[in-house]
Amino acid sequence: MKHFLDINKVSADDLHMIINQAKTTKQARLGQPKAALDSELPLKDKMVALIFEKPSTRTRVSFDVGVRQMGGQTMVLSGSEMQLGHGESIADTARVLSRYADMIMIRTFEEATLLELAEHSDVPVINGLTDRSHPVQIMADIQTYEEHRGPIKGKKVVWSGDGNNVCASFLHASWKFGFDVTFVGPKELDPEAVFIEEARRNSSKIEIARNLEEAVAGADLVVTDTWVSMHDASSARERRHNLLRPYQINDDVMKRANPDALFMHCLPAHREEEVTNSVMDGPQSVVFDEAENRLHAQKAVMRWCVS
Ligand code: CP
Ligand code: NVA
Repeated sequence: MKHFLDINKVSADDLHMIINQAKTTKQARLGQPKAALDSELPLKDKMVALIFEKPSTRTRVSFDVGVRQMGGQTMVLSGSEMQLGHGESIADTARVLSRYADMIMIRTFEEATLLELAEHSDVPVINGLTDRSHPVQIMADIQTYEEHRGPIKGKKVVWSGDGNNVCASFLHASWKFGFDVTFVGPKELDPEAVFIEEARRNSSKIEIARNLEEAVAGADLVVTDTWVSMHDASSARERRHNLLRPYQINDDVMKRANPDALFMHCLPAHREEEVTNSVMDGPQSVVFDEAENRLHAQKAVMRWCVS
């Protein structure tokens, strides 16, 4: 059975195939109504459970629409309304859902929840974000980069700010797709050492920097994310803002990157905090293409899961 739990757990060949599939099916749908069925229906007669223990706009809507375009049906479940949120074990939840659904996507807090669900599920499980990673986002980001600029292999990605879950999936992708990552941010918020070491062991060039103006030189892609993630304590907000303020992406920062550099943000963005309006809405920003490609990339992931 094929679970999509993290980018570092899937072979590079399969990841490239998924990206190519996403580009192809996106092209094939050009000009079609949003709710039109695809010409091939790999999820025909299939039921997909979408579980959310955290808020979501993009993940929720893009998975739901994607399943329907592929001929399947969805049930969207909120963790707090399930018995899961009231003491039923994850293992039993997995066993039960496997009797009703053909695939499960979950957005949750601890990675252990995702892993336990996958261990006890008889159907494929997809990671729709945990505190530790966000693989389907980065699949969409790679599709987006390549549609605008060609292969991401050999390019320099600069991640500015918090070394969080989304950053971790960029580090996973770095060695699977062959690009370099410079993390620039405060030492307190460095990405987990295990992800940096794994990428370096697998021949990615990973740099850790503190000075944004220097780090962004030569960047092909500049990425940032919110300063306070959904799993961060609200009491940490002020401290995080103070630590991360020097890492805002603004026009001066973008001017130091390569002239054809792109700007990405997984969204939701906090405008004028981690990124200025001028960059978000500027010519280098592809943030809404990323959001659109969540749909196409995840459809290709789901197709891979059931193939
Ligand atoms: N980028 C992303 O996952 O967005 P949502 O939180 O809206 O799903
Ligand atoms: N790092 C953010 C990403 C949201 C899509 C969070 O985990 O809240």
